[in-house]
Amino acid sequence: MTQTQPYTRFELRPMAGALGADISGIDLASLDDAAFAELQRAFAEYLVLHIHDQHLTPEQHVALTLRFGPTTRSPYIKHMDEHPDIIAVLKEADEARISTFGNAWHSDFSFLEEPPLGSLLYAREVPSHGGDTLFANMYLAYEALSDGMKRMLDPLKAIHTGKPYGVGGVSADLRVSRSIGIERNRPEADREIAHPIVRLDPVTGRKALFVNSIYTTRIEGMTEAESRPLLSFLFGHAVQPEFTCRLRWRTHDLAIWDNRCAMHYAVNDYDGQRRLMHRTTVAGERPLGAA
Ligand SMILES: [Fe+2]
Repeated sequence: MTQTQPYTRFELRPMAGALGADISGIDLASLDDAAFAELQRAFAEYLVLHIHDQHLTPEQHVALTLRFGPTTRSPYIKHMDEHPDIIAVLKEADEARISTFGNAWHSDFSFLEEPPLGSLLYAREVPSHGGDTLFANMYLAYEALSDGMKRMLDPLKAIHTGKPYGVGGVSADLRVSRSIGIERNRPEADREIAHPIVRLDPVTGRKALFVNSIYTTRIEGMTEAESRPLLSFLFGHAVQPEFTCRLRWRTHDLAIWDNRCAMHYAVNDYDGQRRLMHRTTVAGERPLGAA
């Protein structure tokens, strides 16, 4: 990735060749408009920003989120009583051998009619090691496909559903940390929605793959069995190391990622240690197709 214009209001260092930037020398609680505009430019360029050494109250975290756009609330996760725009993503030290939230490659809530634009995750307490978050650049994943595959995928849609957390998922053996308030039996999570497999950025015209292994179940007009070979190929193709970066958390770090064109994976390798993150979510738009 080549940097287009220099950044003058903070220090920025790319995290990897594919996506992600480390940012320091900035105070997110008191950004003037010019500095925020530069941060947005970095967000568009790198898709994932890892911003170090921030001291934010929950109110400041929400206020920062609102500068990116209106917040959205998740359909089945309990929000903090005193801060309804924040989800506490918590795993306690005594919770071993359970699945954590986000422990597979995904785009947050892709089964919504208007999936989120992005999320801001703030590290309140992190393990001494482990608990990293991986990200994958879905523009690069699309661009690396053959012309024949692109032509085939461009007009297709895929079905997304929140079934793992809705009525359909209740009998499934899905043990999630007790510290995440997941509200089961939410029929709206079972709803199916078709989104374009290739998502077009209406501003830049750039195309990104938009399927993920948690919520995408099949290709529109096909059975799950018929869809599986192609979807499995795309899930594996999209997360090859060359398209990814790895974010190693320290307490007081804040990350923001573009949920429209990057997937993420929360690594669950820190049994015995407590990890507490606060997440806010920026509302998005209905995905636009490439066809
Ligand atoms: Fe997630």
